[in-house]
Amino acid sequence: MGDEKVNIHRGLVGIHFDRTQTTYINGKQGILEYRGYSIHDLAEKSTFEETAYLLLHGNLPNKAQLDEFDKILRSSRKIPSKVLKIIETIKSAHPMDVLRTAVSALSAFDKETDDKSYEATLRKGIRLTAQVPTIVMSHNAIRQNKKPVTPNPELSHAANFLYMLDGSIPPENTTKLMDKDFILHADHGSNASAFAARVCAGTQADLHSAITTGISVLSGPSHGGAAENVMKMVKEVRSPEKAKDYVTNLLRNKERVMGFGHRVYKAEDPRAGHLKEGVEALGKEKGDPGWYEILVAVMDAMKPYQRRGIHVNVDFFAGVIYHLLGIPTDLFVPIFAIGRIPGWTIQVLEQYEHNILLRPLLHYTGEHEKQYISIEKR
Ligand code: CMC
Repeated sequence: MGDEKVNIHRGLVGIHFDRTQTTYINGKQGILEYRGYSIHDLAEKSTFEETAYLLLHGNLPNKAQLDEFDKILRSSRKIPSKVLKIIETIKSAHPMDVLRTAVSALSAFDKETDDKSYEATLRKGIRLTAQVPTIVMSHNAIRQNKKPVTPNPELSHAANFLYMLDGSIPPENTTKLMDKDFILHADHGSNASAFAARVCAGTQADLHSAITTGISVLSGPSHGGAAENVMKMVKEVRSPEKAKDYVTNLLRNKERVMGFGHRVYKAEDPRAGHLKEGVEALGKEKGDPGWYEILVAVMDAMKPYQRRGIHVNVDFFAGVIYHLLGIPTDLFVPIFAIGRIPGWTIQVLEQYEHNILLRPLLHYTGEHEKQYISIEKR
């Protein structure tokens, strides 16, 4: 009993559990494509709205299709006042906890919650893409005892997100950087949160349940939480000269350097370079280049680890960008979630289309045939 030989794949490392037509990742060469298009082209030439359309529909939209898609996004941003009341009730919680609760609550107000058809799920995914920034920014206002800024239908997804921070229309270069950040985070294959969303969808649960699951899993520091921790680290390092000692100390204590390493990429994360350029330019523009200099010094200190396949990842630069934009540190993970809604949605749709219950096995290594002793005698 229990002594059969089994192969254990801890962490499901290297296991392909299904096929996908959405995102291609080559970890050895550092390649990322959405629907066959290079992340570099999308980051430089596309917009978040266009990339979201591409992920959800499988092809780049023509002008009329993009306009229609954008119109739906812009008109779906408001959230019900009862959800705002829930946010108010739990306003002191971490923004990721508030986001998770609010997305779950939205299911009670969405007219298509129970409709799991392809079309209805797609519509819900588009609505959630529009609503999630409103949740995050409304909570940010409410916790400061301010009135949430009403979403502005005149603005793009990225510009409106920044607008809701303080009610002022952001400059074009800042909007472009935020837009790029959302594009870079829009999907990433079978990462932990997308896999969890698929596990949820595999039971035929609805989209709100799957996305609530995705948000829960994203919150951990090994996944979306890394950007928040990178900012904490950079603040602790304080100056480029101290970076080497700081990193050496962390590694000596067997701690991880946040913003480095990846389960799939053993070359540099192809998303990282785009944000590196962004931090450098934004730091100069804001007259605050010191953060970028610390990041570069930490990268230099980590160079010997490249031989072990530990390179910089997307979260290393994202946090400092948000900081320079005046975004509070605890909103860094919710920003990742804002970008990721189209990715979670399409993965749920792929799962539904070709569904199978995701139910692996655990190999039991405990004892057997133990004698039950009544509580009085224990
Ligand atoms: N700093 C120092 N050592 C590291 C790091 C790091 N950031 N990442 C991996 N290692 C070492 C690790 O200690 C281990 O060494 P050893 O073999 O001597 O025990 C070896 O590399 C392999 O580590 P692992 O945990 O088995 O590798 P993994 O592929 O499961 O780890 C990871 C992936 C992301 C959990 C890990 O690299 C990490 O904790 N990084 C820091 C957190 C982070 O930046 N996360 C954001 C990931 S990118 C955004 C996203 O997709 O969510």
